[in-house]
Amino acid sequence: MQNLKGYINDNQQRFLDELFELLKFPSISADPQYKNDVRDAANFVAEQLKKAGADNVEVCETPGHPIVYGEKIIDSNLPTILVYGHYDVQPADPLELWNTPPFEPTLKDGKIYARGAADDKGQFYMHVKAFEYMASNDELHCNVKFMIEGEEEVGSEHLGLFLKDNVERLKADVIVISDTSMISLEDPSIETGLRGLSYVEVEVTGPNRDLHSGVYGGAVANPINVLSKMIASLHDENNRITIPGFYDKVAELNQQQRESLNQAPFDLEAYKKDLGVDALQGEAGYTPIEHTGIRPTLDVNGMWGGYIGEGAKTVLPSKAFAKISMRLVPNQTSDEITELFQKHFESIAPKSVQVLVKPHHGGEPVVTPTDGIAYQAAEKAVEDTFGKKPIPTRGGGSIPIVALFEEVLGLKSVLLGFGLDSDNLHSPNEKYEVANYLKGIETIPLFHKHFALLSKNSK
Ligand code: BES
Ligand code: MN
Ligand code: MN
Repeated sequence: MQNLKGYINDNQQRFLDELFELLKFPSISADPQYKNDVRDAANFVAEQLKKAGADNVEVCETPGHPIVYGEKIIDSNLPTILVYGHYDVQPADPLELWNTPPFEPTLKDGKIYARGAADDKGQFYMHVKAFEYMASNDELHCNVKFMIEGEEEVGSEHLGLFLKDNVERLKADVIVISDTSMISLEDPSIETGLRGLSYVEVEVTGPNRDLHSGVYGGAVANPINVLSKMIASLHDENNRITIPGFYDKVAELNQQQRESLNQAPFDLEAYKKDLGVDALQGEAGYTPIEHTGIRPTLDVNGMWGGYIGEGAKTVLPSKAFAKISMRLVPNQTSDEITELFQKHFESIAPKSVQVLVKPHHGGEPVVTPTDGIAYQAAEKAVEDTFGKKPIPTRGGGSIPIVALFEEVLGLKSVLLGFGLDSDNLHSPNEKYEVANYLKGIETIPLFHKHFALLSKNSK
């Protein structure tokens, strides 16, 4: 038997090599062209789980991408930790902005550059390696189940059904997820909430065909002009969203909760510098920490139409499109907000165009408890390895399945994330720092240990 730190030290090169293998699969769930690569990644994950000591490993079929399951049940009297993660990744575009190819993982200055490095391959793989240590050193204090899916980046369409069909198999005491960020290694933090999501695509149609912009321009509505104006009207001068009813259900935090949230370190100058902007913007009356944590948003993710090729083409386009995401907070619900958007968007369209709103995937916001033993165990584990009590924060991103874990499995989650907001998730040059990877592998077994102890004491 070997102690944890020694084990990590002796095996860190292999831990990196294996993660690099995993990062080489272009497991882009959104693009059907990569279907086989997604499956190859799933098979690799299954193999690694087996090698690490998991039993009953299975690549579970779904109508979409497969879900990898594995478990180690050592004693039915011990608590069970269900690890959730995702092996699928976002598309790597725009490719030309990457300094090194997205699926040729590259180590530079202590950072692993690859699509999926932090989101989420590097993060869920920490659990596989922590588990390997625990299983091979007689250090398992809890039963462990793994559920690693391949459709998180496209809305986890088939995982919901899998949960419903596998309630018994997925029985556990808590779900642990490493798919979020912390402030920094110096200021460790634990996210205690995720925003929900409504995602829509809009199509604005003007004339029945593209027109000469000189022959018709001036008399016929230009759908791109119209769409721009409609989109601009969705925020007022205080950067509040103008959709009637949008804020009706938003849970307002009290003064004390807001103050404690704003106590987290936030360096405005460094934040702006990192992003290359001279100023931030956001809903009046709230801080940037609040803008990204407890307030809802509306953002255009993409907009197109007309001529975008080389040079100039004088055209009055027939159609204009946009993809729009709204981040939601408790107690907004995705269906309701999508409906409010649709009604409002249709109502503000001038007669000169037709508007079509197509809803995409959504997800509900969640707040994870900080008063239970799972959070306490995470807090203690982080304190053990970082030497500092983690700060509870509210995350801006979404993991839609977390709300369903509660609804279908009756299970709360702990967001034990080790990424950084600056890891370039979904952007070119995504990275994960080796130090964070190794710290995560070190922290996870301690989480298991504390969770087992606290469970026993609370019985
Ligand atoms: N891991 C992210 C979510 C995240 C990132 C949460 C950082 C907190 C901090 C996840 O993979 C993700 O990107 N989710 C999507 C939602 C999905 C429906 C496409 C998102 O938030 O856009
Ligand atoms: Mn993720
Ligand atoms: Mn993601």
